[in-house]
Amino acid sequence: MPNVAFINGAFVPLAEAKISIEDRGFQFGDGVYEVIRTYKGRPFALEAHLARLDRSATALDLIQPYSHAEWTDHILEGIRRAAFPEAKIYIQLSRGVAPRDHAYSTELTPTVVMTVREFHPLDKSVQVAGVDALTTEDIRWGRCDIKSVNLLANVLARQQVKQAQVFEAILVRAGLVTEGAVSTVMVVQGGTVMTAPEGQHILSGVTRAVVLDLARSEGIPIQERYVSQQDLYGADEVFLTGTTVEVLAVVRIDGKVIGDGRPGPITKQLAAGFTKQVG
Ligand code: PDD
Repeated sequence: MPNVAFINGAFVPLAEAKISIEDRGFQFGDGVYEVIRTYKGRPFALEAHLARLDRSATALDLIQPYSHAEWTDHILEGIRRAAFPEAKIYIQLSRGVAPRDHAYSTELTPTVVMTVREFHPLDKSVQVAGVDALTTEDIRWGRCDIKSVNLLANVLARQQVKQAQVFEAILVRAGLVTEGAVSTVMVVQGGTVMTAPEGQHILSGVTRAVVLDLARSEGIPIQERYVSQQDLYGADEVFLTGTTVEVLAVVRIDGKVIGDGRPGPITKQLAAGFTKQVG
């Protein structure tokens, strides 16, 4: 079965998957989500994604309907039914269906949705060449650590990316780099890897944690601190991390060349280490 959908405990063909127009996820963006990918058919870092889903749900006072074991069963079943070489699993939890009112009842049954679609990894040539990015103001709310389905600021940033025909938008808040619109941003200067600290201004990326651990184990110094937009342009290397991008060099930002315009040695070392770890 291609493109599998799952709604509130049942698998259905994607085209038949429907939810109410009074779902609070639809009306208020009152919900949270996760994106997980497979490597060799197995979901990568599933526990870390499920733990983050729990944190997002708890932060919004949302009832998490499934245990990790139940989620794991549903996800594995979805992957099995879809039978793609590699899959991208999207799971979403919204507060449920109710007549429109901003305030909510704590009695609502959450709506649980999952889709399993084919995942097409980035072309190797993109990884080898690196990508272009633009910077844009980070206009998101004050709880970017919650993986909320309220993604309007990210949507607008990604539309800029599409129009400019670059790869990613790097978000800047008060002159400091927070993260990408759909990825984490890491900056290398003088051999040290720097990335914004965990907190309310960034999503704590699952790939971020894997890559920082990898850097530690390879003896590469890391600093979890903000880098200014000016220092970003002058960096030796810049790279993105994320479920969909893995470890990906950024070689131009706002048209300015980063380093020598090619993926740098630390990016290449971490990308190779990451590939080895997931392989
Ligand atoms: N996004 N920062 C933001 C704002 C993100 O949306 C994502 C992932 C990341 C990277 O997180 P992770 O390493 O856990 O994938 C960082 C997903 C893929 C999405 O929204 O589609």
